[in-house]
Amino acid sequence: MNVVCLNGEFLPAEEAKVSIFDRSFLYGDGLFETLRVYGGHPFAWTEHLDRLERSAGRMGLRMPTTRDTLRSMSLELLRRNGQSEALLRIQVSRGQGSRGYSPKGAESPIWVVSTHPATPQDPAQPTRWRLATASMRLAVSDPLNPLKSSSKLLQVLARAEAESQGCDEALLLDTAGGVVEGSSSNVFWILGNRLLTPPVESGALPGITRDAVLRIAPDLGFIPRESRCTPDDLRAADGVFLTLSSLELVTATALDGTPLRESPGTRSLHEAYQRQTRSGPH
Ligand code: PDD
Repeated sequence: MNVVCLNGEFLPAEEAKVSIFDRSFLYGDGLFETLRVYGGHPFAWTEHLDRLERSAGRMGLRMPTTRDTLRSMSLELLRRNGQSEALLRIQVSRGQGSRGYSPKGAESPIWVVSTHPATPQDPAQPTRWRLATASMRLAVSDPLNPLKSSSKLLQVLARAEAESQGCDEALLLDTAGGVVEGSSSNVFWILGNRLLTPPVESGALPGITRDAVLRIAPDLGFIPRESRCTPDDLRAADGVFLTLSSLELVTATALDGTPLRESPGTRSLHEAYQRQTRSGPH
């Protein structure tokens, strides 16, 4: 039976309850992080907690517990659930307040940690996803998108739309038609020895995996650059891939039914990333 941690208390998932007046439930007024756990160690713990705390600060949401408590509870939860290859999900909610959007009176944020089996991956190659361009658009340089908030309705609907078209991930554009990111991933494309990705100013989530790939790229002979692009640039690229903690690097095989070129660079970057993630405690 899967155990979760709710406000520091371990209990079976089905017994964990939050109020129907919780603001994450009512308005998506909360935050979350999803970390990949390798050999019992949450990868890039510091970077994820930095992003969580940065986002909480921008939302005026007081962190309900300390980073050390979150870490010790997460490790204990992984032990209790007997999981060493897993996904670790941390949720923070502004908690209960008065009725309506105003956060006034919501002074008791709550937190949840849960663990989930790692998303299955083919050990021989990066996961392969077909992309569909979402019909919904992000505002140019959407100021909320860099927050990993619980208000992910656009991403939910974009993903459902992609799946209804037989695809795996939605490609999100901004209102000017520029590529921003996937519904749950960052986007990269390869042109010769250049490795390109939209800037965070485009409204993309500052992905932890995105940062790691930008760091390792020069070691493999790539020149990493941030650049805006259009879907046509992706169709003209030597290769396109996505990054997210749960699946590391994902090869984009097609966009709206048009096959995309596949670069050997994607696999070499993925292998370099995997060497980093399996290099012991982080
Ligand atoms: N989140 N962009 C969005 C909108 C995301 O939701 C995610 C990951 C990413 C990749 O970020 P990172 O490399 O830090 O995981 C980009 C999905 C739902 C996840 O939690 O796996």
